[in-house]
Amino acid sequence: MSTTGTYNARQFNLSGLKGISDQTLEMHFKLYEGYVKETNNLTDRITEFIKDGNVDQDEMPAYSELTRRLGFEYNGMVLHEYYFDNLKSGGGTGDPMGRTAFRQGAEDSYGSYDIWKADFVGIGKMRGVGWAICYQNPANGRLSNHWISLHETGNVAGFDPILVMDVWEHAFILDYKPADRPKYIEAFFTNIDWAAVERRLGQRTAQPIAA
Ligand SMILES: [Fe+2]
Repeated sequence: MSTTGTYNARQFNLSGLKGISDQTLEMHFKLYEGYVKETNNLTDRITEFIKDGNVDQDEMPAYSELTRRLGFEYNGMVLHEYYFDNLKSGGGTGDPMGRTAFRQGAEDSYGSYDIWKADFVGIGKMRGVGWAICYQNPANGRLSNHWISLHETGNVAGFDPILVMDVWEHAFILDYKPADRPKYIEAFFTNIDWAAVERRLGQRTAQPIAA
């Protein structure tokens, strides 16, 4: 049968990051492939339920559970693609250099890049399992940072992910102790592909913070 959700796992070339080992990345790519597989698997199973044009009452518990899990797996797949895409093979150069659109956006939305960064890093250090994500509101160009629990709770509908940082322990446990998440966050910033971040930014100019 044909399905509506057949995704292929993407390949990423990210060797030589600073402070995030190739072993960590290999393990992480395997985990990502698991999300792709499960997204396809759940989509196929849900398709089976609905192919007769109706979800019967006795099917509802299983159908509901699969559908709830789809949100977890789907976001797990997509967020990992954003995360790998905003890392730079061979390592980056740290904070954005010069007058970039991102730096400007951070200033317009937070007052300064440093304050934006303090917020993003602070979110990354929050206890729990999830992600720190900087989004852009397509309606006005403003940037805002958010905590995402697991993969699916806290994403802002319709906002564009601009910078995505995985803070699940699997993202760093081979390189750092659980309590050393701040060191991983520091390493993450060293490896950001700011050119990729710039490409994600819309053309809209952020409305400056009202005085
Ligand atoms: Fe991850």
